[in-house]
Amino acid sequence: MSVISSVTVKVPATTANLGPGFDCIGAALRLCNQFKFTRIDKGGLTIRVTGAEAERVQTDESNLLYQAFLKLYQHIDQTPPPVKIEIDLGVPLARGLGSSATAIVGGLVAANQLAGEPLSQVQVMEIAIAMEGHPDNVVPALIGGCRLAATSETGWEICDVPWHENIIPVVAIPDFELSTSEARRVLPTEFSRADAIFNTAHLGLLLRGLETGNPKWLKAALQDKLHQPYRKALIPGYDAVNAAAVAAGAYGMVISGAGPTLLALSDVAHSQAVELAMVSAWKAAGIDAEVRSLALDTKGATYKTEARD
Ligand code: HSE
Repeated sequence: MSVISSVTVKVPATTANLGPGFDCIGAALRLCNQFKFTRIDKGGLTIRVTGAEAERVQTDESNLLYQAFLKLYQHIDQTPPPVKIEIDLGVPLARGLGSSATAIVGGLVAANQLAGEPLSQVQVMEIAIAMEGHPDNVVPALIGGCRLAATSETGWEICDVPWHENIIPVVAIPDFELSTSEARRVLPTEFSRADAIFNTAHLGLLLRGLETGNPKWLKAALQDKLHQPYRKALIPGYDAVNAAAVAAGAYGMVISGAGPTLLALSDVAHSQAVELAMVSAWKAAGIDAEVRSLALDTKGATYKTEARD
C-alpha cells in the first residue's frame, strides 16, 4: 500500500471585512503562501522558511502552521508523524492580508492529506474557524472566492458572494505592521442601535453592489461604524490615502482585515490611477507602501501529494 510521503499546499491571501462586513465577509486574492510537509523517519521538527520576511517566522514548535498541523491530528486522536516543513512566503506578515489564516489552513489541509483525508472540507473549515476565532479570513483562504459566513443552529452557513468582473481590489501594503490583537483591542464591545442599523444596511448594499457592479451602490456601501472609526488612528495617513483613492476614481477605500493594508475597490478603467494615487499619498505622509491590483482567487487552498510504496 502506498503512503503519502509529502504534501505541498498553496493558500491564498485574503482581505476580510470589506468595510461593513466586520468578522463575517472576506475575499481570497491571487497572492499565496506555499507550505511543503515531508514525512521523515525520525528526528526533530525542522522548519525552513524562504521568501520576504522569512527571518521573522518562528521555526520551532510554536510555529502557527505546525500548531494547526498538530491540531488536526489531535482532533482525529492520532499521533502526528515527524515532518520537515518548507515554507515559501508570498503574503506579507501582519499586514491585514490573512497571513495567519494561510498558516492555519495550510497546516490543517496538509495534516488531513498526510493522515489519509479523514476529515471533510467542512470539518477542516470548522477547526480553522475555531483556531482563528472568526471566519472571514480562513473561509475564503480554504475555499476561495468572496464568502459570507453566518452562524446557524448546527454550525456555520457559508455563502458565495458574486463579484462583478469590473471590480478590481487594489491593495496598498505599508512598510509597517499592525497585529490583529492590537487592532481588536481598540474596539468597543457595545454599539448603538444606530450603528448596528448603519452596518446592516451598508453590508446589504455591498453584497448587491459587488454582484451588480452598480457604482452608486458600491460608493455608498464601503463605509463602516463597527471597526474602522476606531482603527483609523492606528494607521497614519489613512484619511489622505482614502481621499487620494477616491479622487483617482475608486468606489471607496476600507481597511483590509485588521490593517494596516488599505483596500480600494475600483473599476478596471481607474485601477492604475488608484494605485498611483494611494502610493503617492502614503509617500507624502512619510510611509513607503507597495501597491498592487490583485485578482480574486477562486480556488482557495490547493494541494499536491507525493506517495511512496
Ligand atoms: N475580522 C478580523 C478583524 C480580520 O478585523 O479583526 C482580521 O483577522
